[in-house]
Amino acid sequence: MAMVVGGMGAGDLAWWLGLVFGAAPLLCLAVWHSADAWYRAAFFLRHSGRRRLPPGHMGLPFLGETLSLLWHFKLARRPDAFIAGKRRAHGAGAGIYRTHLFGSPAVIVCTPAANKFVLQSADSFGVRWPMPELVGHTSVVNVEGASHARLRGFILAAINRPSSLQTISTVVQPRVVAALAAWADMGTIVAATEIKKVTFANICKMFISMEPSPLTCQIDRWFAGLVAGLRAFPLDFPGTAFHGARKCRRKLNAVFRQELEARRKVDKECDDLMSGLMHMEDEQGKKLSDEEVVDNIVSLVVAGYESTASAIMWATYHLAKSPVALAKLREENMALSESKAGSPLMITHDDLPKMKYTAKVVEETIRMANIAPMVHRVANKDVEYGGYMIPAGWSVLVWVRSLHTDPNFYHDPLTFNPDRWDEPAKPGTYQVFGGGYRICAGNMLARLQLTIMLHHLSIGYEWELLNPNAEIGYLPHPRPMDGAAMAF
Ligand code: HEM
Repeated sequence: MAMVVGGMGAGDLAWWLGLVFGAAPLLCLAVWHSADAWYRAAFFLRHSGRRRLPPGHMGLPFLGETLSLLWHFKLARRPDAFIAGKRRAHGAGAGIYRTHLFGSPAVIVCTPAANKFVLQSADSFGVRWPMPELVGHTSVVNVEGASHARLRGFILAAINRPSSLQTISTVVQPRVVAALAAWADMGTIVAATEIKKVTFANICKMFISMEPSPLTCQIDRWFAGLVAGLRAFPLDFPGTAFHGARKCRRKLNAVFRQELEARRKVDKECDDLMSGLMHMEDEQGKKLSDEEVVDNIVSLVVAGYESTASAIMWATYHLAKSPVALAKLREENMALSESKAGSPLMITHDDLPKMKYTAKVVEETIRMANIAPMVHRVANKDVEYGGYMIPAGWSVLVWVRSLHTDPNFYHDPLTFNPDRWDEPAKPGTYQVFGGGYRICAGNMLARLQLTIMLHHLSIGYEWELLNPNAEIGYLPHPRPMDGAAMAF
């Protein structure tokens, strides 16, 4: 007589057990490998088996390895374990892995040589924005070839050459000095919030000569909406971040266009980025169009606002935890300050070569902050590298973060140690600003702003983290979860 368990025959039970312990795991395995098998088969057919895809795995259908990335960056808070896992599973090899991330088949590159290869091969790897309208069709970050070189020339002249940096240093310092005094009056601050405010006030002054007002607060909110959309999945219907970002972009275009037209009407000249871009001419005597001026101002704010604020926040955070480094920084800056007569003491671009230890703090802060963990490119054509083929149309993620946290390149890489910069970094291992023909156009401006803040902080103030062991979040940018709350 057949046994009956809870109304279920033994045959039924065996069937269910077989399903749970046999077929279901097999099904999961089949699903897990289906996307990888699909891409490999398509690649095999296209190249008749004569070429190899980089090692790796395409992850789940549609989602790829995005969940794994989110898990490492957001939940486990161990971002470097994502690449370490790939090295373990597929070998260090040429430092190139296939994957599927952010909705696209992709190749990750993560060695100095592979990164350099991608960043310097302008013909093979280009840029691709899901919705170029958000960054601006004529923005330096969106255009390629001769248009890119021309725009980049204008921007570098406006924000990266010594004479521009000298002007900028005189413009930003009064705001930095005033902000520090205000923080001391407040007693307790959330550094991330306060540093963002002063960074934005400086951007408004440097770029469009605007003083803080309800309009600049509104502009700040529109930028926040725009950046949220740039990071979101490109779903365009009411309620999505992407849709909101398009609206913000239109408002920003309108407000900057209005300012530009108002200046032209009264022939007004200002010592700021907008006027600089409006009046510059290339070798053929050609000026930028209004659209180019507006698109590039918006791009420069997007590229230079959160990144600079984040770097300054990390400097305050690490120095609060590194009394020896802070003492050395103070000593150098006090000596500089005492060597100058008069008050308030502003540093100039000419002082920078004397600020040797400060420069090391700046580089170490930016190395550890890893504000841009990866740089995005797309393969314009099939490209061979290290015995593998990167297929045309695939995303290429230049994982610069993994260089800066690799103990083979930086001894004890997760420790803040400005003295490591007594020796230059090994060639190709410091790519915080990307590299090649698109290397960050504002890298000297970012360094200058950090230097100015470090000078005024170290000569006049003391600060202490309220939660020195606060957890660190890594998305969208690395930051202590409490925003670096501190007694000031
Ligand atoms: C610590 C702060 C900063 C970091 C870590 C940073 C990092 C980067 C990185 C990784 C890139 C990509 C490079 C590439 O695609 O190869 C980039 C591009 C760029 N950055 Fe920065 N950046 C910072 C500050 C700034 C500032 C202050 C500005 C200007 C206001 C700026 C303007 C730009 C521009 C215009 C590009 C695009 C360059 C091009 O495509 O030719 N950045 N930045």
